[in-house]
Amino acid sequence: MNLNLLYFSPTGTTEKILESVSGAMDYPVKNTYDLTRSENREKHITFSDEDIVIVGVPVYAGRIPQILLPSFEKIQGKATKAIFIVLYGNRDYDDALLELKNRFEERGFIGIAAGAFIGEHSYTTKVATDRPDQGDLAIAKAFGKEINSKLEQRQENLSELVVKGSFPYKALNAASKLVPTTDDTCIDCGICAKFCPMDAINPLNVKEIDAEKCIRCCSCIKKCPTQSKQFVNENIDKIITMLESNLSNVRKEVELFF
Ligand SMILES: Cc1cc2nc3c(=O)[nH]c(=O)nc-3n(C[C@H](O)[C@H](O)[C@H](O)COP(=O)(O)O)c2cc1C
Ligand code: SF4
Ligand code: SF4
Repeated sequence: MNLNLLYFSPTGTTEKILESVSGAMDYPVKNTYDLTRSENREKHITFSDEDIVIVGVPVYAGRIPQILLPSFEKIQGKATKAIFIVLYGNRDYDDALLELKNRFEERGFIGIAAGAFIGEHSYTTKVATDRPDQGDLAIAKAFGKEINSKLEQRQENLSELVVKGSFPYKALNAASKLVPTTDDTCIDCGICAKFCPMDAINPLNVKEIDAEKCIRCCSCIKKCPTQSKQFVNENIDKIITMLESNLSNVRKEVELFF
């Protein structure tokens, strides 16, 4: 069997969990498809029944990031075993895990396990600070080991994977046109433009951000070495205040499904 990783992870928490889960599995990773890079979202990828794929995405507004849908159309399985993972920022994952599972199962994948993990919230370091932490990573490793034994079972002995979530999925609001601003402390290092998953930041003038492309993933804000990028907006401030007052003292725990 060939183990493959397929993920989208602008601020890195999803990637961390996939590394821990796969690191505990009996199969070496054959291919890694990092869909955070726009060029990888153009690739047509076909998996066979000899492949196992761990698919991981962050939760955006209780759903999977909708910008991934065109790239998912280019991915095809053929009785390919899959593990579905969502990372959420300590609020809720709502219907994201169900949506991920459904979208892959309708493309030739067979879900054998799934998990909802917690990562530091993209919008603030005060919610789920530094998660996934050691406890989360230990659970991720134990999850990987549990999957090893699941993979040894015969196909006919595998029960259908059931995860939390409901359909129709949570309704999405119209996308906002807000983009991060750049203040004068910017040292023009180019990191934000290099890692923007949407290529929305002009590398020749990092203050210029294309509002049509930006998905407000916060990669540029979290990766900037001089904290020069931020959202300057009353509505975002209200959301952050609400997140911090409701969720900074709450610890949600990982949920696993087999
Ligand atoms: C646009 C957007 C919407 C989000 N919506 C939710 C949400 O509905 N529930 C939640 O708990 N966290 C939400 N988050 C937080 C992310 O799910 C969380 O920070 C995740 O760990 C980010 O994954 P990454 O590090 O792989 O990018 C949202 C983040 C962004 C950028
Ligand atoms: S410009 Fe927008 S899409 Fe690009 S990294 Fe920043 S928040 Fe994410
Ligand atoms: S990462 Fe920060 S310092 Fe570097 S170019 Fe972008 S805004 Fe400027």
